[in-house]
Amino acid sequence: MDLDLILKPVKLLVTGANGQVGTALTRLAEQDGFFEIVALSKSDLDITDAEQIQQKLADHLPDYVVNCAAFDHVDEAEQQSGLCYAVNSDGVEKLALACGDLSIPMFHLSTDYVFDGHYASGYTEDDEVAPLGIYGDSKWQGEERLRLVLPEHIILRVSWLFSEQGNNFVLRMLDAARNAKELEAVSDRRGCPTSAVDVARVILAMLKQIRNGAEAWGTYHYCGAEITNRYDFCKEILIAAGHYESFEVEQLVPISSKDYVTEALRPNTSVLICKKLLSVFGIRQRPWRQELQWLMRNIYES
Ligand SMILES: NC(=O)c1ccc[n+]([C@@H]2O[C@H](COP(=O)([O-])OP(=O)(O)OC[C@H]3O[C@@H](n4cnc5c(N)ncnc54)[C@H](OP(=O)(O)O)[C@@H]3O)[C@@H](O)[C@H]2O)c1
Repeated sequence: MDLDLILKPVKLLVTGANGQVGTALTRLAEQDGFFEIVALSKSDLDITDAEQIQQKLADHLPDYVVNCAAFDHVDEAEQQSGLCYAVNSDGVEKLALACGDLSIPMFHLSTDYVFDGHYASGYTEDDEVAPLGIYGDSKWQGEERLRLVLPEHIILRVSWLFSEQGNNFVLRMLDAARNAKELEAVSDRRGCPTSAVDVARVILAMLKQIRNGAEAWGTYHYCGAEITNRYDFCKEILIAAGHYESFEVEQLVPISSKDYVTEALRPNTSVLICKKLLSVFGIRQRPWRQELQWLMRNIYES
Protein backbone atom coordinates (compact mmCIF):
# COMPACT_ATOMS: atom_id res chain seq x y z
CA MET A 1 0.00 0.00 0.00
CA ASP A 2 1.25 3.49 -0.86
CA LEU A 3 1.93 5.02 2.59
CA ASP A 4 2.43 8.44 1.05
CA LEU A 5 -1.14 8.38 -0.18
CA ILE A 6 -2.42 7.51 3.29
CA LEU A 7 -0.34 10.09 5.16
CA LYS A 8 -0.60 12.99 2.73
CA PRO A 9 -3.51 15.33 3.52
CA VAL A 10 -6.21 15.45 0.87
CA LYS A 11 -6.13 18.81 -0.87
CA LEU A 12 -9.51 20.48 -1.39
CA LEU A 13 -9.99 23.57 -3.46
CA VAL A 14 -13.16 25.31 -2.27
CA THR A 15 -14.84 27.93 -4.47
CA GLY A 16 -17.30 30.47 -3.05
CA ALA A 17 -15.43 30.01 0.22
CA ASN A 18 -17.00 33.07 1.87
CA GLY A 19 -20.56 31.79 1.52
CA GLN A 20 -22.54 29.86 4.14
CA VAL A 21 -21.39 26.38 3.15
CA GLY A 22 -17.97 27.53 1.92
CA THR A 23 -17.17 29.09 5.30
CA ALA A 24 -18.46 26.13 7.31
CA LEU A 25 -16.64 23.66 5.09
CA THR A 26 -13.35 25.52 5.26
CA ARG A 27 -13.57 25.78 9.05
CA LEU A 28 -14.52 22.14 9.59
CA ALA A 29 -11.95 20.79 7.13
CA GLU A 30 -9.19 22.84 8.75
CA GLN A 31 -9.99 21.21 12.10
CA ASP A 32 -9.76 17.78 10.49
CA GLY A 33 -6.20 16.55 10.02
CA PHE A 34 -7.26 14.65 6.90
CA PHE A 35 -7.51 17.74 4.68
CA GLU A 36 -5.49 20.62 3.33
CA ILE A 37 -7.67 23.52 2.21
CA VAL A 38 -7.34 26.06 -0.54
CA ALA A 39 -10.26 28.39 0.21
CA LEU A 40 -11.04 30.77 -2.65
CA SER A 41 -13.64 33.51 -2.33
CA LYS A 42 -15.26 35.20 -5.33
CA SER A 43 -12.48 37.80 -5.40
CA ASP A 44 -9.86 35.00 -5.51
CA LEU A 45 -11.63 33.00 -8.17
CA ASP A 46 -14.61 34.03 -10.27
CA ILE A 47 -16.08 30.81 -11.65
CA THR A 48 -17.42 32.61 -14.73
CA ASP A 49 -13.81 33.15 -15.86
CA ALA A 50 -12.44 30.00 -17.55
CA GLU A 51 -8.86 31.30 -17.69
CA GLN A 52 -8.82 32.11 -13.99
CA ILE A 53 -10.18 28.67 -13.21
CA GLN A 54 -7.49 26.93 -15.26
CA GLN A 55 -4.81 29.07 -13.64
CA LYS A 56 -5.97 28.37 -10.07
CA LEU A 57 -6.31 24.65 -10.66
CA ALA A 58 -2.87 24.50 -12.25
CA ASP A 59 -1.37 26.52 -9.37
CA HIS A 60 -2.84 24.38 -6.61
CA LEU A 61 -3.44 20.97 -8.24
CA PRO A 62 -6.05 19.90 -5.69
CA ASP A 63 -7.25 16.32 -5.21
CA TYR A 64 -10.88 17.54 -5.31
CA VAL A 65 -12.73 20.73 -6.16
CA VAL A 66 -15.76 21.57 -4.02
CA ASN A 67 -17.95 24.17 -5.69
CA CYS A 68 -19.74 26.27 -3.08
CA ALA A 69 -20.01 29.27 -5.42
CA ALA A 70 -23.49 30.18 -6.60
CA PHE A 71 -25.81 33.01 -7.49
CA ASP A 72 -28.58 32.09 -5.09
CA HIS A 73 -30.68 35.25 -4.82
CA VAL A 74 -33.90 33.56 -5.85
CA ASP A 75 -35.99 36.69 -6.49
CA GLU A 76 -33.23 38.79 -8.03
CA ALA A 77 -32.56 35.92 -10.45
CA GLU A 78 -35.84 36.71 -12.24
CA GLN A 79 -34.42 40.13 -13.21
CA GLN A 80 -30.78 39.13 -13.50
CA SER A 81 -31.13 35.87 -15.37
CA GLY A 82 -27.95 36.49 -17.42
CA LEU A 83 -25.76 36.63 -14.34
CA CYS A 84 -27.63 33.79 -12.68
CA TYR A 85 -27.07 31.39 -15.64
CA ALA A 86 -23.50 32.65 -16.06
CA VAL A 87 -22.64 31.52 -12.53
CA ASN A 88 -24.96 28.57 -11.86
CA SER A 89 -24.88 26.93 -15.32
CA ASP A 90 -21.96 28.21 -17.46
CA GLY A 91 -19.67 28.69 -14.43
CA VAL A 92 -20.28 25.13 -13.27
CA GLU A 93 -19.52 23.83 -16.76
CA LYS A 94 -16.29 25.84 -16.98
CA LEU A 95 -15.20 24.48 -13.62
CA ALA A 96 -16.10 20.94 -14.65
CA LEU A 97 -14.22 21.20 -17.96
CA ALA A 98 -11.10 22.47 -16.20
CA CYS A 99 -11.39 19.70 -13.60
CA GLY A 100 -11.77 17.14 -16.40
CA ASP A 101 -8.58 18.36 -18.11
CA LEU A 102 -6.63 17.63 -14.93
CA SER A 103 -8.63 14.53 -13.86
CA ILE A 104 -9.85 16.24 -10.70
CA PRO A 105 -13.23 15.04 -9.38
CA MET A 106 -15.73 17.73 -8.46
CA PHE A 107 -18.26 18.08 -5.64
CA HIS A 108 -21.11 20.43 -6.42
CA LEU A 109 -24.08 21.76 -4.45
CA SER A 110 -27.56 22.04 -5.85
CA THR A 111 -31.02 22.69 -4.53
CA ASP A 112 -34.57 21.51 -3.87
CA TYR A 113 -35.62 24.37 -6.19
CA VAL A 114 -35.06 22.06 -9.17
CA PHE A 115 -38.47 20.58 -8.20
CA ASP A 116 -41.87 22.25 -8.41
CA GLY A 117 -42.85 21.14 -4.90
CA HIS A 118 -46.09 19.38 -5.84
CA TYR A 119 -45.15 16.03 -4.24
CA ALA A 120 -46.28 16.33 -0.64
CA SER A 121 -44.30 13.21 0.29
CA GLY A 122 -41.02 14.72 -0.90
CA TYR A 123 -38.49 14.07 -3.65
CA THR A 124 -35.94 11.36 -4.39
CA GLU A 125 -32.96 11.85 -6.68
CA ASP A 126 -34.87 10.04 -9.45
CA ASP A 127 -37.93 12.27 -9.41
CA GLU A 128 -38.56 14.47 -12.38
CA VAL A 129 -37.37 18.05 -12.07
CA ALA A 130 -39.62 21.01 -12.91
CA PRO A 131 -38.04 24.25 -11.70
CA LEU A 132 -40.49 27.09 -11.05
CA GLY A 133 -38.08 29.96 -11.64
CA ILE A 134 -34.81 31.13 -13.15
CA TYR A 135 -32.71 30.22 -10.11
CA GLY A 136 -34.00 26.62 -10.00
CA ASP A 137 -33.62 26.26 -13.75
CA SER A 138 -30.07 27.64 -13.70
CA LYS A 139 -29.13 25.16 -10.98
CA TRP A 140 -30.68 22.30 -12.97
CA GLN A 141 -28.78 23.35 -16.12
CA GLY A 142 -25.60 23.45 -14.02
CA GLU A 143 -26.24 19.91 -12.79
CA GLU A 144 -26.83 18.66 -16.33
CA ARG A 145 -23.68 20.29 -17.72
CA LEU A 146 -21.63 18.77 -14.91
CA ARG A 147 -23.09 15.29 -15.57
CA LEU A 148 -22.26 15.62 -19.25
CA VAL A 149 -18.72 16.93 -18.88
CA LEU A 150 -17.29 15.19 -15.82
CA PRO A 151 -18.35 11.65 -14.82
CA GLU A 152 -16.36 11.85 -11.57
CA HIS A 153 -18.67 14.18 -9.73
CA ILE A 154 -20.96 14.37 -6.73
CA ILE A 155 -24.03 16.60 -6.85
CA LEU A 156 -25.47 17.17 -3.38
CA ARG A 157 -28.88 18.83 -3.37
CA VAL A 158 -29.65 20.61 -0.10
CA SER A 159 -32.50 22.78 1.17
CA TRP A 160 -33.39 25.66 3.52
CA LEU A 161 -29.82 26.44 4.59
CA PHE A 162 -29.09 28.39 7.74
CA SER A 163 -25.93 29.57 9.43
CA GLU A 164 -24.59 32.50 11.42
CA GLN A 165 -23.94 34.52 8.26
CA GLY A 166 -25.56 35.56 5.02
CA ASN A 167 -29.14 36.14 4.03
CA ASN A 168 -30.84 33.13 5.58
CA PHE A 169 -34.29 32.64 7.14
CA VAL A 170 -33.01 32.34 10.73
CA LEU A 171 -31.10 35.63 10.66
CA ARG A 172 -33.92 37.39 8.78
CA MET A 173 -36.48 36.29 11.38
CA LEU A 174 -34.23 37.36 14.30
CA ASP A 175 -33.77 40.72 12.67
CA ALA A 176 -37.49 41.14 12.03
CA ALA A 177 -38.33 40.10 15.61
CA ARG A 178 -36.08 42.87 16.94
CA ASN A 179 -37.88 45.52 14.92
CA ALA A 180 -41.60 44.68 14.77
CA LYS A 181 -44.44 43.87 17.17
CA GLU A 182 -46.04 41.46 14.70
CA LEU A 183 -44.38 38.92 12.43
CA GLU A 184 -45.94 36.87 9.65
CA ALA A 185 -44.66 33.50 8.44
CA VAL A 186 -45.98 31.13 5.78
CA SER A 187 -47.52 28.02 7.28
CA ASP A 188 -48.28 25.97 4.15
CA ARG A 189 -44.76 25.73 2.76
CA ARG A 190 -43.05 22.58 4.01
CA GLY A 191 -39.40 21.70 4.08
CA CYS A 192 -36.42 20.61 6.13
CA PRO A 193 -34.11 23.28 7.50
CA THR A 194 -30.44 22.36 7.16
CA SER A 195 -27.46 23.91 8.85
CA ALA A 196 -24.48 24.83 6.68
CA VAL A 197 -22.20 23.16 9.25
CA ASP A 198 -24.18 19.95 8.85
CA VAL A 199 -23.79 20.12 5.06
CA ALA A 200 -20.03 20.60 5.55
CA ARG A 201 -19.96 17.51 7.79
CA VAL A 202 -21.73 15.48 5.10
CA ILE A 203 -19.41 16.67 2.32
CA LEU A 204 -16.30 15.77 4.32
CA ALA A 205 -17.72 12.36 5.25
CA MET A 206 -18.49 11.64 1.58
CA LEU A 207 -15.04 12.86 0.51
CA LYS A 208 -13.30 10.55 2.99
CA GLN A 209 -15.17 7.52 1.69
CA ILE A 210 -14.52 8.44 -1.93
CA ARG A 211 -10.85 8.99 -1.12
CA ASN A 212 -10.82 5.52 0.41
CA GLY A 213 -12.09 4.00 -2.80
CA ALA A 214 -15.90 4.21 -2.69
CA GLU A 215 -17.15 4.25 -6.29
CA ALA A 216 -20.17 6.38 -5.56
CA TRP A 217 -20.31 9.23 -8.06
CA GLY A 218 -23.74 10.68 -8.73
CA THR A 219 -26.53 12.77 -7.30
CA TYR A 220 -27.63 12.77 -3.65
CA HIS A 221 -30.06 14.59 -1.40
CA TYR A 222 -29.37 15.91 2.06
CA CYS A 223 -31.41 17.98 4.52
CA GLY A 224 -31.93 18.20 8.27
CA ALA A 225 -34.21 15.62 9.88
CA GLU A 226 -37.86 16.43 10.51
CA ILE A 227 -40.26 18.17 8.19
CA THR A 228 -41.60 21.53 9.28
CA ASN A 229 -43.10 24.67 7.77
CA ARG A 230 -41.85 28.24 7.77
CA TYR A 231 -44.26 29.31 10.55
CA ASP A 232 -43.29 26.48 12.94
CA PHE A 233 -39.62 26.94 12.09
CA CYS A 234 -39.91 30.63 12.90
CA LYS A 235 -41.55 29.75 16.23
CA GLU A 236 -38.63 27.44 17.07
CA ILE A 237 -36.11 30.13 16.09
CA LEU A 238 -37.74 32.69 18.41
CA ILE A 239 -37.98 30.19 21.27
CA ALA A 240 -34.32 29.17 20.87
CA ALA A 241 -33.10 32.77 20.62
CA GLY A 242 -35.50 33.87 23.38
CA HIS A 243 -33.21 32.18 25.92
CA TYR A 244 -30.60 34.80 25.08
CA GLU A 245 -32.43 37.91 23.93
CA SER A 246 -35.76 39.74 24.49
CA PHE A 247 -37.53 40.62 21.30
CA GLU A 248 -39.85 43.44 20.28
CA VAL A 249 -42.23 40.96 18.61
CA GLU A 250 -45.42 40.01 20.49
CA GLN A 251 -47.32 38.08 17.83
CA LEU A 252 -46.37 35.53 15.21
CA VAL A 253 -49.11 35.18 12.61
CA PRO A 254 -49.42 32.19 10.23
CA ILE A 255 -50.21 33.20 6.65
CA SER A 256 -50.83 31.32 3.41
CA SER A 257 -48.18 31.26 0.69
CA LYS A 258 -50.86 32.80 -1.57
CA ASP A 259 -50.68 35.92 0.61
CA TYR A 260 -46.90 36.07 0.52
CA VAL A 261 -46.11 37.36 -2.94
CA THR A 262 -42.52 37.19 -4.14
CA GLU A 263 -40.87 37.84 -7.49
CA ALA A 264 -40.07 34.14 -7.98
CA LEU A 265 -42.39 31.22 -7.33
CA ARG A 266 -41.20 28.79 -4.68
CA PRO A 267 -41.91 25.07 -4.28
CA ASN A 268 -44.59 24.32 -1.68
CA THR A 269 -42.88 21.11 -0.61
CA SER A 270 -39.12 21.30 -0.37
CA VAL A 271 -38.68 17.93 1.29
CA LEU A 272 -35.66 16.01 0.02
CA ILE A 273 -35.69 12.27 0.69
CA CYS A 274 -32.19 11.28 1.83
CA LYS A 275 -32.36 7.46 1.72
CA LYS A 276 -29.79 7.13 -1.05
CA LEU A 277 -27.14 8.95 1.00
CA LEU A 278 -27.84 6.59 3.89
CA SER A 279 -27.75 3.44 1.80
CA VAL A 280 -24.63 4.30 -0.24
CA PHE A 281 -22.57 6.29 2.31
CA GLY A 282 -24.24 5.33 5.61
CA ILE A 283 -24.71 9.05 6.36
CA ARG A 284 -27.72 9.87 8.52
CA GLN A 285 -29.71 13.07 8.71
CA ARG A 286 -29.10 15.16 11.81
CA PRO A 287 -32.06 16.88 13.49
CA TRP A 288 -32.17 20.55 12.52
CA ARG A 289 -33.49 21.42 16.00
CA GLN A 290 -30.18 20.39 17.51
CA GLU A 291 -28.25 22.32 14.84
CA LEU A 292 -30.40 25.37 15.60
CA GLN A 293 -29.47 25.18 19.31
CA TRP A 294 -25.78 24.99 18.35
CA LEU A 295 -26.18 27.97 16.07
CA MET A 296 -27.76 30.02 18.88
CA ARG A 297 -24.90 29.11 21.19
CA ASN A 298 -22.46 30.25 18.50
CA ILE A 299 -24.31 33.49 17.86
CA TYR A 300 -24.86 34.49 21.47
CA GLU A 301 -22.02 32.89 23.40
CA SER A 302 -19.01 33.53 21.20
N1 LIG B 1 -29.09 29.16 0.78
C1 LIG B 1 -30.00 28.18 0.69
O1 LIG B 1 -31.01 28.13 1.42
C2 LIG B 1 -29.76 27.06 -0.30
C3 LIG B 1 -30.73 26.08 -0.42
C4 LIG B 1 -30.50 25.02 -1.29
C5 LIG B 1 -29.33 24.96 -2.00
N2 LIG B 1 -28.41 25.93 -1.90
C6 LIG B 1 -27.18 25.80 -2.70
O2 LIG B 1 -26.11 25.52 -1.79
C7 LIG B 1 -24.92 26.11 -2.24
C8 LIG B 1 -24.29 26.96 -1.17
O3 LIG B 1 -25.24 27.92 -0.77
P1 LIG B 1 -24.86 29.05 0.27
O4 LIG B 1 -26.10 29.38 1.02
O5 LIG B 1 -23.62 28.69 0.98
O6 LIG B 1 -24.58 30.25 -0.75
P2 LIG B 1 -23.98 31.68 -0.43
O7 LIG B 1 -23.87 31.89 1.05
O8 LIG B 1 -24.71 32.67 -1.25
O9 LIG B 1 -22.50 31.52 -1.00
C9 LIG B 1 -22.24 31.50 -2.36
C10 LIG B 1 -20.89 32.17 -2.53
O10 LIG B 1 -20.58 32.16 -3.93
C11 LIG B 1 -20.03 33.41 -4.24
N3 LIG B 1 -20.14 33.68 -5.66
C12 LIG B 1 -21.14 34.27 -6.34
N4 LIG B 1 -20.81 34.36 -7.65
C13 LIG B 1 -19.58 33.83 -7.77
C14 LIG B 1 -18.69 33.66 -8.86
N5 LIG B 1 -19.01 34.08 -10.10
N6 LIG B 1 -17.50 33.06 -8.65
C15 LIG B 1 -17.15 32.65 -7.41
N7 LIG B 1 -17.93 32.81 -6.33
C16 LIG B 1 -19.14 33.38 -6.53
C17 LIG B 1 -20.80 34.39 -3.39
O11 LIG B 1 -20.11 35.62 -3.27
P3 LIG B 1 -20.94 36.99 -3.12
O12 LIG B 1 -21.86 36.79 -1.93
O13 LIG B 1 -19.87 38.00 -2.92
O14 LIG B 1 -21.71 37.15 -4.39
C18 LIG B 1 -20.88 33.64 -2.07
O15 LIG B 1 -19.75 33.87 -1.27
C19 LIG B 1 -25.27 26.85 -3.54
O16 LIG B 1 -24.98 26.02 -4.62
C20 LIG B 1 -26.77 27.05 -3.43
O17 LIG B 1 -27.35 27.13 -4.72
C21 LIG B 1 -28.59 26.98 -1.06
